[in-house]
Amino acid sequence: MNKPFEPSLENYAELIDREVDKLLPGNNGIVCDAMKYSLENGGKRIRPMLTLEFCRVCSGEFERALPFALAVEMIHTYSLIHDDLPCMDDDDIRRGKPSCHKKFGEEYALLAGDGLLTEAFRVAVTSEKLTDAQKSRAVSLISEYAGYRGMIGGQMFDLENEGKKVSLERLKCTCALKTGALIKLACQLGCIAAGAEEIYEKAAVDFAENLGLGFQIVDDILDVTSSTDELGKPVGSDEENQKCTYVSLLGIDKAQEYANELTQGAKKALEVFGDKAGFLLNLADKLLDRKK
Ligand code: IPE
Ligand code: IPE
Ligand code: MG
Ligand code: MG
Ligand code: MG
Repeated sequence: MNKPFEPSLENYAELIDREVDKLLPGNNGIVCDAMKYSLENGGKRIRPMLTLEFCRVCSGEFERALPFALAVEMIHTYSLIHDDLPCMDDDDIRRGKPSCHKKFGEEYALLAGDGLLTEAFRVAVTSEKLTDAQKSRAVSLISEYAGYRGMIGGQMFDLENEGKKVSLERLKCTCALKTGALIKLACQLGCIAAGAEEIYEKAAVDFAENLGLGFQIVDDILDVTSSTDELGKPVGSDEENQKCTYVSLLGIDKAQEYANELTQGAKKALEVFGDKAGFLLNLADKLLDRKK
């Protein structure tokens, strides 16, 4: 008999990496190669992990959530490919390797991002174990959170904020959309796959809103305090692009304090899950303390 799955960062990342590697065929043209290059280029896999784990803590078989989890990772990867383009943050390294446009050229990186976004919708609805109602709710949430009401809207604010000292409220809204939206999507999709009751989905949203904002603040801090080698992406990118970040507005110490508070908020939101919340509590601490 197979050993029961033990949720841990390593076990989840291994499982997700294995499933990600099955998503796209080889020898299918340069755009597909570029999609594979970025997707299989091992990120931390936090978002798909959240989808699977929320399904599990809501008493669903976590395998049911796998197509949703993979779809979120594809959309996240697309957002990174486009985020790195010369017309956006102009960053040459991603996940420790040349960015997609450095390896394949801008035109193919653009198409690879489009390809991942589109393919994500096909993948999301492949589960045979989910009802049509679950799938259609998922598709509509994916469009909302990935699109102009979500991540894209946040990326737009991020560009508009360049070179400015915007209000804290505006910065919070920017981060909640550009980063928080996909993290919230990941958590909610896990609940949908499990057929969870509303109180659990609400708790997942509360957790995700706190975690997502904290995650971006830590990202902003690492852009200043880490090294390109350790981070796997260029440090100093925010200053170079005159980004308005929590670090540029508040300084590192205050930004760190706020990230700590948000992590406490995220952990508090997990109370309804009782003993099942162990992995998520630990994940929140690890993300606050992360080095990459
Ligand atoms: C990077 O996300 C982009 C942000 C939203 C800050 P991750 O830090 O999750 O990137 P990967 O997937 O591990 O490379
Ligand atoms: C990225 O924010 C948010 C996305 C939607 C991709 P950043 O621009 O700070 O992410 P990194 O630092 O390049 O990963
Ligand atoms: Mg950016
Ligand atoms: Mg960037
Ligand atoms: Mg950053």
